[in-house]
Amino acid sequence: MELPISLLLVFTLLLSPLTALAGVSDPRALGLARSSFPSVHAQQLIRALNLFPDSDANIIDGGDSSPVAAGKRIVEKLFTLPNVVGESGVSVEDLGHHAGYFKIEHSHAARMFYLFFESRTNKKDPVVIWLTGGPGCSSELAVFYENGPFSIANNLSLVWNEYGWDKASNLLYVDQPIGTGFSYSSDRRDIRHSEDGVSNDLYDFLQAFFAEHPELAKNDFYITGESYAGHYIPAFAARVHQGNKAKEGIHINLKGFAIGNGLTDPAIQYKAYTDYALDNGVISKTDYDRINKVLPVCEMAIKLCGTDGTVSCMASYFVCNTIFSSILARAGDVNYYDIRKKCEGSLCYDFSNMEKFLKQKFVKQALGVGDIDFVSCSPTVYQAMLVDWMRNLEVGIPTLLEDGIQLLVYAGEYDLICNWLGNSRWVHAMEWSGQNKFVNSPEVPFVVDDSEAGVLKNYGPLSFLKVHDAGHMVPMDQPKAALAMLKMWTQGSLSEATAEPENLVAQM
Ligand SMILES: *[C@@H]1O[C@H](CO)[C@@H](O)[C@H](O)[C@H]1NC(C)=O
Repeated sequence: MELPISLLLVFTLLLSPLTALAGVSDPRALGLARSSFPSVHAQQLIRALNLFPDSDANIIDGGDSSPVAAGKRIVEKLFTLPNVVGESGVSVEDLGHHAGYFKIEHSHAARMFYLFFESRTNKKDPVVIWLTGGPGCSSELAVFYENGPFSIANNLSLVWNEYGWDKASNLLYVDQPIGTGFSYSSDRRDIRHSEDGVSNDLYDFLQAFFAEHPELAKNDFYITGESYAGHYIPAFAARVHQGNKAKEGIHINLKGFAIGNGLTDPAIQYKAYTDYALDNGVISKTDYDRINKVLPVCEMAIKLCGTDGTVSCMASYFVCNTIFSSILARAGDVNYYDIRKKCEGSLCYDFSNMEKFLKQKFVKQALGVGDIDFVSCSPTVYQAMLVDWMRNLEVGIPTLLEDGIQLLVYAGEYDLICNWLGNSRWVHAMEWSGQNKFVNSPEVPFVVDDSEAGVLKNYGPLSFLKVHDAGHMVPMDQPKAALAMLKMWTQGSLSEATAEPENLVAQM
């Protein structure tokens, strides 16, 4: 998909004054080559994961082929997938695995797909929702490769995940924004372009979900996710908090939100790219100095985008991403989700088994998705969200902290694209009543089974955890530590860990 010429003209016009400001006379110095077109970025993202979705987005014609009958707000079914290998820890009768479609009220014709795995340990465990990023990638990526109840073996059988987050929570995954995964609409206008659209859809979903499962509404509720969900999560948490305050619908017992290797505060995080890359030997000092020349332009562009710009936000996406693409141009075939790895063949990520698995007829039948194609990552959704990319989502967080809602920001130390350095910087720079105390809190080791799995800093409701030996996808790289982190955080013992370092050993 190519950008319309008129849009490109707007960018060129917008960029000209910026270019002049920075004293860069040749626009190509800003990397405005083909490689900076969003369609190319979307394709790169999808190829880096070895995914080959059959369609760009689930916008289906007609709407009659839809698996969900009109009228009902939520349609949910219990499902079991045959021949899961290994030990689940619970009997099959006790396994509450649900798949469902939710009709989004404030949409034209959108249906959101979700998976709900009851806790394998205790139904009173907190309800945890996970959001995968992209923007536009399905949360089934996390189900099968990160923290779901099972993973996919090469022969496409499922294997129980000993460290699935359903061992400590009632775990929800949704495919969103609309058009992603098995979620679909018959109306193109349902494609979302902002966090308002995304968070309203998610809030509507929660209302319907807790109406369907009233016994769970009293449990603690936590929002989690990764990568571009660094945008979704704060917006969604703020939406839930606002709904609670206004006594809209069912009260949602929001206790906290966790962002894993996220993009939340672009101005700070884009500035950190070159520092992280230099510190880790990805680029040389000469590259560093050269690429940093774009920084003032990028910062200015982000300011113009502000917190709710549109065209200027697209422009800032173009400008600022030249920083990232210039680093990659120097770094060769490094896997930008894990700089220890090369991005070639099996050394890069290969999530294609998920697509093969979900294409199978018996799986689709079990999940009740009818003829809907599975769109692993949607280029259409990705591009639709570009106006949202450079918005600063940190701004809504201090209010949540002041009201006692917990925030955990964690990051695998070898990820480049949403690196720990940029995340640590925005967390430290965030202004709230506990900022000084947080900044001056000690860093303590995060110990799991007698070994240091990361470095933790905490004050009051705010925690930051740098995870060792992990890239972008922490629950995939360090499943045991990730489950320990979730358990300790939701049980309130992460903060105790900082207060009394000797008690830091996680109870698994
Ligand atoms: C498929 O692979 C899993 C995991 O390697 C193994 O346990 C299982 O026996 C295999 N199933 C078949 C039918 O080969």
